[in-house]
Amino acid sequence: MKVWFNPSKAIESALTTIAAQTEGFGSEFLPGVRPADPRFGDYQANGVLAFAKKNGRNPRELATRLITAAQASAEFDSAFVTLEIAGPGFINFTLTPEFIWQWQLAFSTKEDYQIGAKTLKDGRKVIIDYPSANTAKQAHIGHLRPMVIGQAIARLLDFCGADLVRDNHIGDWGTNFGTLIMKIKRDGVDLSELGENALVTLDQLYKDGSALEFEQPELRDISRNELVLLQNGDSKNTALWEQIVEISKVAFEKLFVQIGVEIDITLGESFYRDKVQRIYAELTEIGLAEQSDGALVVWHDEIKKFSRDNERPFPFNIRKQDGASNYASTDLATVLYRLEEFKADEIIYLTDARQQDHFQQLFLTTKKWFTAKGYPQPEMNHVFWGTILGADKKPFKTKSGESIKLQELLDEARSRAFEVVTEKNPDLDATERREIAESVGIGAMKYADLSSNRTQDYVFSWDRLLSFEGNTAPYLLYAVARINSIFRKVGVDPEAPIEAASQAETEAELALARKIMGFVTALELTLNDLRPHFLCTYLYELAGAYSSFYNADKVLVDDTAVQARRLLLCARTRTVLMTGLDLLGIKSLERM
Ligand code: ARG
Repeated sequence: MKVWFNPSKAIESALTTIAAQTEGFGSEFLPGVRPADPRFGDYQANGVLAFAKKNGRNPRELATRLITAAQASAEFDSAFVTLEIAGPGFINFTLTPEFIWQWQLAFSTKEDYQIGAKTLKDGRKVIIDYPSANTAKQAHIGHLRPMVIGQAIARLLDFCGADLVRDNHIGDWGTNFGTLIMKIKRDGVDLSELGENALVTLDQLYKDGSALEFEQPELRDISRNELVLLQNGDSKNTALWEQIVEISKVAFEKLFVQIGVEIDITLGESFYRDKVQRIYAELTEIGLAEQSDGALVVWHDEIKKFSRDNERPFPFNIRKQDGASNYASTDLATVLYRLEEFKADEIIYLTDARQQDHFQQLFLTTKKWFTAKGYPQPEMNHVFWGTILGADKKPFKTKSGESIKLQELLDEARSRAFEVVTEKNPDLDATERREIAESVGIGAMKYADLSSNRTQDYVFSWDRLLSFEGNTAPYLLYAVARINSIFRKVGVDPEAPIEAASQAETEAELALARKIMGFVTALELTLNDLRPHFLCTYLYELAGAYSSFYNADKVLVDDTAVQARRLLLCARTRTVLMTGLDLLGIKSLERM
């Protein structure tokens, strides 16, 4: 038998084939293979139980029959894997040390892992909608999560073989442009003269404009009129709008470079402004949308209660009373465009948790609409998250209660990391310390965001995220740096093939080798739930298994075959840690 990259998947498919040829089973049988409680084995199949129940058969008898057939087939070589019946009809699979070692030999580089991982998404066309901020507003701490979580998920999808389109669906067609243009014209501001901090000025102009409208309500009509002019293609307002969008784009790109956000296309809300008519027409034609006080709405009677809002359900408003399009209309037009233009199999949206109700309605509307029209249904997922909290457990703000600017946060991460690095390594020259601080600081901030379960709020703490202990980026980066130093010591390139290694045999070696293989399961788990913290937890555990191994078994020993196998385990740990960090958007360091 050949070495399976992904034992769980391989066992699942082998058992399916074998069962189809085994009396008493049939093509409906699903083996149900999953990682097992480590006390009983590596994987467990529990599908026999449900199958036996459904067909009125004895589960133990069926399980025994399946085991016998599996053992007789070439797919299950007893030198590699042992099968055992357990409980009322579970099948436990234990990989032998021989298999675990062959796996280490077979898969050594990031590219090897990627060849295996590619099967997880297998060329599926996936659109990831991120970070999709609104234009004309400065980025603040709230923009960190879409950028960080989005880029990690995008990198993971790409690594796992998705045919990916990263679409930055910016909010560039909102009502705020009315107020902004009103204020710009009133003050006679020349946008081309704003210079470097143009976005800061725009942000302020909008705030001042809103305050002014509050004092002088008659200004609202002027703003509304400016918006209507813009929506009708007035050349002066269109030119202003283009300048505003450009200013925002430049400012955001600066942040993208620092955070490592990659984008393939930017098709903002404005791009869909001439595509909403078709939406109104189709949804009306199939009887899904109805008029309501001049607005166009879609009711979903099956929504008794919203995910977030407990109030009486409200309909999905897809066209405003004044006939203007809104967030819902552009989102519906966007789904259709992604289907027709990109042939999307899957669309993933990233926003904070407050938009759950919107997406619940968007997904339901799309489903009914596409079914009625006979369009293929893309899978749609909303990846949302909680709030970043301060030490007081309230949304993290500046001392004066303002939202923290993202650029300031990044700068602070760098300077704090520089202090930490200097304290640890005062002898390195300042340039190198600064380079290290860049990876450590930005990486630590990203990691803190990624390692907490995204649907929960988390407390932002510089001390914790920059700590070299615990589930942090510095801890993982340091683990990589320590492994690098071992290789420097023996004068061996950690990327070069390691020859003449004997097979792992001590408990700590085997535990580490098994943990290295766990990378595959961690990728699957992270992908299934689109929750990067699963990958973080795994990397942290891997670093822990490495520490236990390092403390238990000396790496640099006289016996060359033993030293070689231990170095090989160091090299694999290093590759998996670096690959994992890279997927999270964190750059590993040679030394720290
Ligand atoms: N611009 C929106 C916001 O800042 C997020 C857009 C998310 N994507 C979407 N297709 N609705 O809240």
